[in-house]
Amino acid sequence: MSIDGYIGSGTGHPLPLSNAADLDRVDAVRASCDAILIGAATIRSDQPRLLLRSDTRRHARLTHGRPPSPMKVTITAGGGLDPSADFFATGETEKVVYCASAVLNEAQERLGSVATVVDGGQPVDVHWMVEDLHRRGVRRLMVEGGQSLHTQFLTGDLADELHLAVAPVFVGDAAARRFVGDGQFPWNPQHRATLAEVRQVGDVVLLRYALSPRFRAESQEEV
Ligand SMILES: NC(=O)c1ccc[n+]([C@@H]2O[C@H](COP(=O)([O-])OP(=O)(O)OC[C@H]3O[C@@H](n4cnc5c(N)ncnc54)[C@H](OP(=O)(O)O)[C@@H]3O)[C@@H](O)[C@H]2O)c1
Repeated sequence: MSIDGYIGSGTGHPLPLSNAADLDRVDAVRASCDAILIGAATIRSDQPRLLLRSDTRRHARLTHGRPPSPMKVTITAGGGLDPSADFFATGETEKVVYCASAVLNEAQERLGSVATVVDGGQPVDVHWMVEDLHRRGVRRLMVEGGQSLHTQFLTGDLADELHLAVAPVFVGDAAARRFVGDGQFPWNPQHRATLAEVRQVGDVVLLRYALSPRFRAESQEEV
C-alpha cells in the first residue's frame, strides 16, 4: 500500500507500488502457496497473470510434484468476468471461480471452458469457500486483494499472517481503494495484533503480523 494506505489508483488503472526486489519477494511467497485468491474487480482492473516469474521456483515446484504456479482462485457475485482476461488465459494451472448461485448458469456458460465454476451460495460465504478450497487440497492460500477481500478475510478472522508492504508514495485520492474498508476487526486497541517481523526491501518496508496460532515465525518462502 501507499504511505496513505491506498492499494489502487482511483483511475481504474493499476497502481505500481512494489520495487523489483519486493516483486521478487512476492514471487517467493507465491511459490510457497497452493493457491492465490483475488477479487473479480482486480481481474477486471489490473489484468493480473498471477504466475510465478522465476524459472528456478517453477522448476523447484515441479520437482516436488506441484504445478509450476499455484492454483488461481476468484470470487464473483455478478459473474461479469471475461474468459479472455489474463487470469484465465495464462498458465496451465487450475483456475477456480466461486460464483453466487443466482448467476451460476450464466457464469458456467461463459467461463466453464476456462475454469472450474463453483456454486458458492447466495451470497458467497468466504468461510465456506476456504473450507471448499481445503477439500480441493489447498493448505496455504495467499489472498492478494483487493480491498473487499482483505476486509472480508481480516474481519472474518480467516488470516493467519498479514504481509503489509508500504511503498514510499502517496495517492491522496478518496476515489481509490484503501488496503481495507470499514468493518469490525479482531485487532483493536484492546487486542493488538502481534508484529512478527519488520524487513526493509529497498525503499519498501515489509511488516509481517502474526494473526493466528497457525502463524509460523520462520518464513515459508522458498529461495
Ligand atoms: N496494491 C495491491 O497489492 C493490490 C492488490 C489487488 C488489488 N488492488 C487494487 O484493489 C482495487 C480493487 O479492490 P476492490 O475492493 O474494488 O475489489 P476486489 O476485492 O478485487 O473485488 C471485489 C469483487 O469481488 C467479488 N466479491 C468479493 N467478495 C465477494 C463475495 N463475498 N461474494 C461474491 N463476490 C464477491 C465481487 O465481484 P463482482 O463485481 O464480479 O460481483 C466484488 O465486486 C483495485 O484498485 C486494484 O488495483 C491492489
